[in-house]
Amino acid sequence: MSKKDFIHINDLTADQIHEIFDKAKWIKSKFKNREHYKPFDGMSLAMIFAKPSARTRVSFETGYYRLGGHALYLGPNDIGIGKRESVADVARVLSRFNDMIMARLFDHNHILELAKHATVPVVNGLTDHNHPCQIMADAFTIIEHLGSIENKSIAYVGDGNNIVHSWLYLSMMIPIKFTVVCPEGYKPDMELVKKAKSTGISDINISHDPYDGVKGADIIYTDVWASMGQKEEAEERRKIFDPYQVNDKMISATGQKTLFMHCLPAERGVEVTDNVCDADYSIIFDQAENRMHAQNAIMLYLTGN
Ligand code: CP
Ligand code: NVA
Repeated sequence: MSKKDFIHINDLTADQIHEIFDKAKWIKSKFKNREHYKPFDGMSLAMIFAKPSARTRVSFETGYYRLGGHALYLGPNDIGIGKRESVADVARVLSRFNDMIMARLFDHNHILELAKHATVPVVNGLTDHNHPCQIMADAFTIIEHLGSIENKSIAYVGDGNNIVHSWLYLSMMIPIKFTVVCPEGYKPDMELVKKAKSTGISDINISHDPYDGVKGADIIYTDVWASMGQKEEAEERRKIFDPYQVNDKMISATGQKTLFMHCLPAERGVEVTDNVCDADYSIIFDQAENRMHAQNAIMLYLTGN
């Protein structure tokens, strides 16, 4: 049987996605009860980080450890993937030592190459193109709060970035109403939007009107206006994105009960106000916690557990 990787959400079928949500619920409750469950006893996870991280590093390292294994942090100065050594050779070498590889990289082609040459499962911990573990955790968090993910109305407000792309991949498998509310010129990859629309599974829209675009949203989701690797554009982007700040006025514009989500880290006072981050309808820290449970479920799935 060929090894499994987790690079894009639509690498999975809808049934497999739901199995992972169920498994996340199961493993979360086991962890809460401090039950002994160590399927990764004696195993190791190599974690490659070409970019900074708090949640991804801590959730993978803690999660893998609590499942019985050992996780190694390999930072930007350790491996030099694609610079000090080719991506293919890094994949081959790490596969000789480790049972799984998780990587956070700039170039999406590098994660594809890593998965191609590794003989152990590879998990995408974010690239410039997508962030699948995040959106699996987010969808699981929505299920916890609203009972299901199907047909929920999600308005993503801000930059059409890697987070948006992962929502689009999810929308190809699970029916949602997904609206990207962004400035002209900051749309997501429109080829991917076209592909997602062509599956006919979800209702996908692009809007440039920050108030009309969020009408009827069950969830308003935002992310930083300048992602890692774009920080030199931050000042210019602040001017362009100013009307898209998630604040009390925007939350009221949904005209209904709305949850607020953010993958974090947030730049408070920029893309979102403190008030919204700290409101009782904000579920940002549930999202952060669920990174660990969703990823554990993904790693269990990849290893046939
Ligand atoms: N949301 C997320 O991936 O956070 P980090 O960049 O801190 O890992
Ligand atoms: N879009 C953000 C997500 C961080 C988790 C970035 O890529 O920096």
